[in-house]
Amino acid sequence: TLPAPVRINLDETDDKIIGALRKSDSEPGSAVRVSVQGRVQRVAKQGGLIFVWLRRGMAIMQCVLTGDLSKTYDALTLIRETSLEIIGELWELPPGTHAPLGRELRADFFRVIAAAPGGDDAFLTRVPADFDTTSSQASEALLNLRHLTLRHEKPSAVMYVRGVVEGAFHTAYRKLGVTKVSPPALVQTQVEGGSTLFKLDYYGQPSYLTQSSQLYLETCLPSLGDVYCIEKSFRAEKSLTRRHLSEYTHVEAELDFITFDQLLDHLEELICSVVDLTLEDPIAAKAIKEYNPDFKKPSRPFKRMRYADAIDWLRGKGIKNEEGNDHVFGDDIAEAAERKMTDEINETIMLTHFPAGIKAFYMQRAADDDRVTESVDVLMPGVGEIVGGSMRIWDYEQLLAAYKREGLEPAPYFWYTDQRKYGGSPHGGFGLGLERFLAWMLKLWTVREACLYPRYMGRCTP
Ligand code: 4AD
Repeated sequence: TLPAPVRINLDETDDKIIGALRKSDSEPGSAVRVSVQGRVQRVAKQGGLIFVWLRRGMAIMQCVLTGDLSKTYDALTLIRETSLEIIGELWELPPGTHAPLGRELRADFFRVIAAAPGGDDAFLTRVPADFDTTSSQASEALLNLRHLTLRHEKPSAVMYVRGVVEGAFHTAYRKLGVTKVSPPALVQTQVEGGSTLFKLDYYGQPSYLTQSSQLYLETCLPSLGDVYCIEKSFRAEKSLTRRHLSEYTHVEAELDFITFDQLLDHLEELICSVVDLTLEDPIAAKAIKEYNPDFKKPSRPFKRMRYADAIDWLRGKGIKNEEGNDHVFGDDIAEAAERKMTDEINETIMLTHFPAGIKAFYMQRAADDDRVTESVDVLMPGVGEIVGGSMRIWDYEQLLAAYKREGLEPAPYFWYTDQRKYGGSPHGGFGLGLERFLAWMLKLWTVREACLYPRYMGRCTP
């Protein structure tokens, strides 16, 4: 009789088990009999052998069915995604062969836990291509089956990296001594303009899904000091682009008693530290290398460029604005022009000092030029804007004037205005789109690929 098996994970690291791989029939050695569970990733028949790649989580192990085992009905009809238990000994790979973990399990027993239907299920046969908006039909078909296509290699790797990057932001902020808070998603104030608000009925009162937690973070400065949050933000974007979602994950921070230059330094420090921490994770590093082989850590210091100089640069290159004319001071730099500029300069750019007219109501004016604000967008090659930030108006009267200019009724903002009444301070912060950050690190065609279940105009399922 065979010894009872030890249950292990596919990527088991215990040396008592992994250090005792069997090499040959004649030397049983100290190999341990193990039991693994997972789903079939791939089946290949070769001679009398059946090779099963078993997948659990992101790990894959090669298992081999031989002899009578390979002749059973279950073995002969085995199909992708069926879940199995396989028991046997771990062996070294025969010389000249390769398998994911560098070892294989030679089965002496297996059982089907739950069979998959197989056949021509779209997700099994369709190549898990990137979501390419130039082929929206294929992308939509993949997204309709997102609950299944997530099982493919690239989507699981992207979701894994996403988790690591989010963790890296937490680690970086813990190191910097910035406190995490969790502002509400249901609000009654707008932050980034009325046109992208998701409105809803809140017990008979008008309210919205938050566009940004910024205003709430600002209220935390007097009680907690520097704060950050990683929460969902919602935007009713009425266009379909490669980098706009209706629901996205927003990394936001607010820093007290700082200057604009200190805000820029902070962004540089944070981004570099998150990149370093992410690359410390071997699985994430491998995925980045695979999907974005040319990825380079951003070089410091980041290029700092004033908006007015960007306008000159665009004019010099003959890149037109959305109306097809030369850019002039005061123009919004649209996505297409911004991408062209970022891709051509091909390094991280901190674009600063945008005109007040094209920016949000709360932004502080620059001391040396009243036409512009102390604002910054961080632009990355391949994506464009990944961060929007600024210093905030901290004078009471100036804020009231800003509401008026924007046509905002001040009453619902009483709690925000009060900050300027009870011990104001020069302060600033930013918001970073996590999906855009991932699109940059992993060279994704669209931010939709960086979401578990993307939400954008026309899609709220599965
Ligand atoms: O530039 P935005 O609109 O700035 C704010 O919301 C500020 N209140 C943030 C702050 O200072 N706390 O958005 C900030 C970032 C953008 O740079 C972009 O990366 C991301 O949020 N973003 C989106 N990502 C995906 N889909 C959308 N619709 C996005 N809108 C903004």
